[in-house]
Amino acid sequence: SKVIFSGIQPTGTPHLGNYLGALYNWVQLQKSTDATIYYSIVDLHAITMPQNPATLRQAKIDMAKSLLACGIDPKRSVLFEQSKVKEHAELQWIFNCITPVGWLSRMTQWKSKLGTNTSSTHSQSLSDETLTTGLKMGLLDYPVLQAADILLYKATHVPVGEDQLQHLELTRDVATLFNKTFKTRLFPLPEAIVPPATKRIMSLRQPGSKMSKSDPSDQSRINLTDSPDEVQSKIARAQTDGIRGITFDPVNRPGVANLLSIQAELEGRTIEQVVEDFKSVQSNKELKDRVTEVIVEALKPIQAEMRRLDAGYVQQVLNDGADKARSVASENLHSCFKAIGLV
Ligand code: TYM
Repeated sequence: SKVIFSGIQPTGTPHLGNYLGALYNWVQLQKSTDATIYYSIVDLHAITMPQNPATLRQAKIDMAKSLLACGIDPKRSVLFEQSKVKEHAELQWIFNCITPVGWLSRMTQWKSKLGTNTSSTHSQSLSDETLTTGLKMGLLDYPVLQAADILLYKATHVPVGEDQLQHLELTRDVATLFNKTFKTRLFPLPEAIVPPATKRIMSLRQPGSKMSKSDPSDQSRINLTDSPDEVQSKIARAQTDGIRGITFDPVNRPGVANLLSIQAELEGRTIEQVVEDFKSVQSNKELKDRVTEVIVEALKPIQAEMRRLDAGYVQQVLNDGADKARSVASENLHSCFKAIGLV
């Protein structure tokens, strides 16, 4: 039977990249499948980077609020905090004991944190920083925890943005390795569900890199909580180019392509249809005005719902979700322990 699992880190407000890359899909799947669905706020992943305790606590509630406001329905989906279900960390340990270190040190996210993907000068300054703050074991081990999240519920499908595909591949490798090692068929090999059109929403300031919560510039992203004025000024200042006319060319015109993708996704139309609209009016300004309008309209109902939801209700939803998740998690972990000989 079909089981869906996905997660999001409670670091900052979700942005348009999270929404179009993942959350929108999460909401749609509630209607389009009869699968059992788990959505987790992955706080244990968040602490692989330094966090302020008070900020983290608040960020988890805010994230849950955002997810509910986007349309996650607690009657349909199990919504919970990862750290409330201790089995995640236990299964991670089991997987740690079979996963080769080499698989982890080859992961691109780890390598980019190490600085090996950047220029030599940049990498030099990063390794200086490494001496003072140090890269933590948890960060290297991050993908194993993600595999544990998914396999703990024997998930078959994982709706994510394109940047998570490598983590999904590792998850399948870990499942295969476990099944082979212990001669069992306990874990299924989960598949990613990636949105078809726009796989990746790019930064508004540097359209060569993805829109990200960890970008120091708030101008680089549209947060789901941004006011109409903020959206207007961020889009107005978004990097485009001086080429005449509106064409979709992600390689040579990444800024314009990103705005076209955002508009197409939010309107539920194809990029060709959107480009067609701009045949007569060929200015970047016109494009930016239209994108602004579409974003502001899309955010309105989400923001109204965020204001309506109170923290007490949200906490109740999370607690109920954790209870449901735990009962499945403990049963599956027990089967896993049996396969290994721990019970
Ligand atoms: P996180 O919190 O970085 O992002 C949550 C989801 O948003 C997608 N996403 C994007 N999609 C398109 N364009 C962008 N610019 C963009 N930025 C983010 C991500 O692909 C993701 O789907 N490791 C995961 C969290 C995680 C998880 C899991 C996911 C932990 N355990 C188990 C799936 C299954 C992460 O850091 O997502």
